[in-house]
Formats: sequence, structure tokens, C-alpha cells
Amino acid sequence: MQNKNKFYITTPIYYATAKPHLGSLYSTLLADIVARWNKLKGNRVFFLTGTDEHGQKIALEAQKAGKEPQVFVDSFINDYKHIWKIYNIDYDRFIRTTEKEHIKAVQNWVSLLIAKGEIYKSAYEGWYCTPDETFVTDPLPRTDLNGNPQSPLCPTCGRETIFVSEESYFFKLSSYQDKLLKFFKEHPDFVVPKERLNEIIKFVESGLKDLSISRTTVKWGVPFPGDNKHVAYVWADALLNYVSAIGYNGVSSTETEKLEFAKWWPADLQVMGKDILRFHAVYWPAFLMASDLPLPKQLLAHGWIKVNHQKMSKSLGNVIDPEPLFEKYGSDAVRYYLAGQIAITQDGEFSTQALERHIETDLANDLGNLLNRTVALAFKHELINVPEVNNLSPESVKLLEDTTVMLREYTDYMDRCYFHLAIASLWRFIAKVNAYFHNLEPWKLAKTDKNKFIECISLTCNSLNIIGNLVWPIMPSKSEELLDSLGEKFALGTNKIDELTGNKIKSFTLKKGATLFKKIEDTETPEVTKPETNLSTSQPARSEYVEGTQDIDFAHFEKIKLVMGTIEACDEVPKSDKLYKLKVNFGDKGTRQVLSGVKKFFKPEDLIGKQALFVYNLAPRKMMGLDSQGMLLTAQNSDGSLQIVTVLSQVHSGTELK
Ligand code: MSP
Repeated sequence: MQNKNKFYITTPIYYATAKPHLGSLYSTLLADIVARWNKLKGNRVFFLTGTDEHGQKIALEAQKAGKEPQVFVDSFINDYKHIWKIYNIDYDRFIRTTEKEHIKAVQNWVSLLIAKGEIYKSAYEGWYCTPDETFVTDPLPRTDLNGNPQSPLCPTCGRETIFVSEESYFFKLSSYQDKLLKFFKEHPDFVVPKERLNEIIKFVESGLKDLSISRTTVKWGVPFPGDNKHVAYVWADALLNYVSAIGYNGVSSTETEKLEFAKWWPADLQVMGKDILRFHAVYWPAFLMASDLPLPKQLLAHGWIKVNHQKMSKSLGNVIDPEPLFEKYGSDAVRYYLAGQIAITQDGEFSTQALERHIETDLANDLGNLLNRTVALAFKHELINVPEVNNLSPESVKLLEDTTVMLREYTDYMDRCYFHLAIASLWRFIAKVNAYFHNLEPWKLAKTDKNKFIECISLTCNSLNIIGNLVWPIMPSKSEELLDSLGEKFALGTNKIDELTGNKIKSFTLKKGATLFKKIEDTETPEVTKPETNLSTSQPARSEYVEGTQDIDFAHFEKIKLVMGTIEACDEVPKSDKLYKLKVNFGDKGTRQVLSGVKKFFKPEDLIGKQALFVYNLAPRKMMGLDSQGMLLTAQNSDGSLQIVTVLSQVHSGTELK
């Protein structure tokens, strides 16, 4: 009975070789969202994260930095904890694989498997990919220009492998091939998204070889019990964290440890990127089967965050630091964007322009304004205590029906970890609430039909209350601020989803709150990528197109006014290395000042006199203290160069695109 309503969730443990980047944040954030979603449903949650601190990769990086490995890994721990804190990652335990208890658990576990005949000693000869810390069985051959053979490449990451020939202990992975295939067949939902399980099945069907699980040429690792020449292969060491963190110590545990362990294991969800699914869906279950431990219930393997269509990674030098993003946009907006605009099923391109667009439209306009307008109008007409209403008008009945549909959809998508679809469903509902409010014109009703005015405010507040609760896993701070404006104190402990289902209309005591989402400040976009990378691609790549999340209808498109303008002047903006101040002639429509972040790509003389296409009706904004009215459209080549968008031959300045 003690396991009832428990939810144990883990993130991968991150290589402690650098500060966390946006990709590391992504895995952790998705786990935090699932953890919070389960809390919202009244479950008891244990959320584990941590750092992977042994192995050749770490030893080499430490050497490069001229530090002892332990000192080197220690230097990044506070960075991880700091980023998790500012992004409201509410973990319960942060494990480090250099902790004594973890090392002991790994050693005991190795002894246990040796005693059970699951591990034996032999020799390994073959290729090894250090950045991926993996033995490569199918390396990609390579020659130099003269045809001389070179070290082959890793088929997964494309980096150079090294040849390894050493005595090694092996885990009898081959004897788990059939058991694993049987398990996958019986648990078709073991991996989210499902398609990724098919890749794993193909891999296992192609034949499993025994796995080398010790190294003699690496010193920075967990010493093998009884054979100190060997250290445990870093993945065996790392995977064990999921059980050692909750009290498993590899041998029959003390009563308390057993109790603690059984309280949480098996994990309900283990989150990771698709690059490390094979370790979690093949090696890990086989290790657990060999140890007579139950398997995790489900694995979530998400796609990659890309910059310029390449996986963001430290070795490619294109990482995005989450800290300046937090400083400029706040944690909730970044959380919303990563969870809602990138589908876990696909890779997603990150762009600050897209992030800003979503803050302005989805957050500030659709949600923030709805709350502000409702509360402001209620206050204006002294409706501070909004009563429960009954005898509803057809419009309100329809809104309640829409609420029920949305709640069902949202719950279903969140349970299946399709966060972007859950968020899309919630925002479709927000659009319906906005339409309800506008169509009823409560500012007129306040003077003509007081009861209907109260009904409109009440139903809008009820909807906002539901939205505020549902959005808590995604944007915990903004959710609490929103609910506070309705006079609601957010508290966990019960099943909120059950409470919200059933269309019970509540009463509210409104409070004048601060604006939920402020307009983006007049500062420059933070320097989030290395200079060679591009921040100007604002549209997701075609391959990242997700049906239903990025579509706009014609009415939306029609609102965008695209106008040809002639650039008459192009001046530098003091203290900005990105912006130019353009004077643009729009013919009969007059002359405007447009700021554009294209300084790195053009000299002023490249632009002066050119005709270009502008978004003409973009809301004016300030950048570096200067007004900008409109946006210059550009197209970026894959080599990073930029072109302005124009038409084949000259047209009158001010010509609108149709
Ligand atoms: N240490 C191993 C995991 C051991 S778990 C027992 C490892 N560490 S890692 O630091 O390289 O990656 C940790 C997580 O970050 C993985 O889930 C990985 O997919 C994720 N990401 C790293 N870069 C990423 C992106 N660019 N995009 C999304 N997630 C990515 O592997």
C-alpha cells in the first residue's frame, strides 16, 4: 500500500565538465514539468537529478584544465544547482557519482553480479568513442588524402574514436537479448515516443554482444572490487545512480535502506535525450534483470535543441547559456517556450526571436491581457467579490463545455508527456475565453445588464482559475501570481484535476495584481550563442514543423502588413554591436525609423539605396532607447550569410505585398 500514488522521476546525470547549457536544462525541465504535473494530481513525488563525474572524458577535460578530476568536477556543481534554482527546478535529491555511498553501491553491485556469474573477465579490443563514453562496434572507416587509413569515426556523433586493447570485465548482455525483446513486446509503451522503441527493438534484434564494463587504461572511476587495476565503465557506474540515490546499496540492505528503496523503485518515468536512449532502454534494463530488480515503468526520450540546425553541444561550441535568458525573459517564459514550442518527438530549433514572439503573443497578449482586462473591468465597476452564478446564458454554457473538452485533452496529453500538444490545447481554450469575453462586451453590459456583466466576469474568472492551475507545472511562478489576482492561494495535496473537472463555479475576491508578463525590455538580445551562430532564424525548420502548433489561419495572416521600403540611411547605434538604425522611405506612407540586428552582416553602403521588404504593422518597440517601427525581413544561408528580402524589380516605395 505504501507505493500508492507515488511517482519517482529521474533526469540523466550530467557530465560535470562545464556549466549546464540549454540542452541540459531541457531534459531537467521536462522532468520538473512531469514531477509538478504529478503533484498537481495529488501524487507523492520523488525527483532525482545529479552529475556524472567519472570516466575518461572527465579525466581528459580535467587534464586540459590543469586540475585534479575531483577539483575539476567540484567546480561545476554550484553552477548546476544555481541554474536549477533560478529555473524553479524542484528536485528532491542531487546525486553525485563521486559520493561515497554511490561508489560503495557500484562496487557491491559488481561483486553481486560476479558472484551470480553475470560478469566475467576477458579482453577487449576495439574502438572507443571518448566524448560519448561508448564502445563502438560499427565505426565509420576513414582515410587521409593519400588514402592512408585514419582512426575511424563514431557512427553516432561523428567524432574520432581511439583503439583500445585491454583486459576487461564483461557483462553477459548477449544472454538478455530474448528477455529484452519479450519485455518490449509486453510493454509497448515502455518508451515515449513509441517510434523510438522500434529503433531499440531493431538494435536488439540485430544481435547483442557482451558489454565491456571495466577499463584498465582509465584511472578516474570506481575501482573494481578485488581487482583494483580496473575501474567500472562509466555508464555502469552512472546508471546505478538511479537506485543508489534512493538507498540501494548492491547487497541486502539494512532495513531502513530497503524500506526507502522500495518506497520509490521502480522509477515511474526516466527522462533523457534520444542520444542516450540505448543505454537506458537496453543496458539498464539488462543490468536490472541481472540484479533481480524491477524495470522502470517508462522512459521519455526527447529530441535535441538545435542551433543553426546542429545539436547544441559544448564540443560544437554553439551552446546557449540559460542564465542570460533567465535575466532577460524570466524563467517561466523560457520554460513555456521550451515545453510548448518544441515537440518532444522532434528536434527543435531555438531562436530568441521566436521566444520573444511567443512572450508577446501567447503570454502577454493572450493570457496576461485577459487577466488584466478582466480584473481591471471588475474593479472599475466595483465588482471585487465575484459571486458564484447560476442560470447561465447559452454563451456561458458553451464555455463550460469547451472547458470540459480542454481539461480532458490537456490531462491526456500531459499524462502522455506530449507537453506541446497539452499547451496548444490550453491556448486554444484561452483564445475561446478571450472570444467569450469580447463577444459579450462586458464593458457595455456593466451599464445595461448588471447580472449578465457579473456572469461574464464570473465565468472568465472561473476559466482563469482553471488555466492558472493547469499551467502550474509549466510556469509555476506566473501560475501562482495569476491565481493570487483571483484571490486564490495555490496549495498542493489534493487532486486538483479532479477538483477542476465538473464545472463547479466558484466565487472570487479579486486583487489588483502586477502585470503578469511585461513587454520585452529595451535591452539588446542577450549574447546567448557564440558569434558564429545565428540568432535571426525565427521560424522553426520544416523538419520541426508540428501540425497544429505553428499553423495560423488566413485571418491571422491577413493581419500582417508586408510593405516594400527604400533604405535611405543606415547609422550605427551607440554601444550596440548588432543594431543598425535605418531610415526607410515608404512612399505615400511616409518615412520611418526601423532598427535591425544586421550589423554583423552588412556595411551601411550595402544597404543604403536598396529596396527591401518590411513587416509594416509590427507594434512599435524600443531598442537601446531608440524607437523602431517595423521589421526588416532577411533570409539566412546555411553558411550563416544573410540576404535582405526584396522583389525582382523596383516597385514604388510603400507597395504592399498581396
Ligand atoms: N552523463 C550522461 C548521462 C548518464 S545518465 C545515467 C550524459 N550526460 S550529458 O551531459 O552529455 O547529457 C545529459 C542530457 O542532456 C541528455 O539527456 C542529453 O540528451 C541532454 N542534452 C545535451 N544536449 C542536448 C541538446 N542540445 N538538446 C536537448 N538535450 C540535450 O549523456
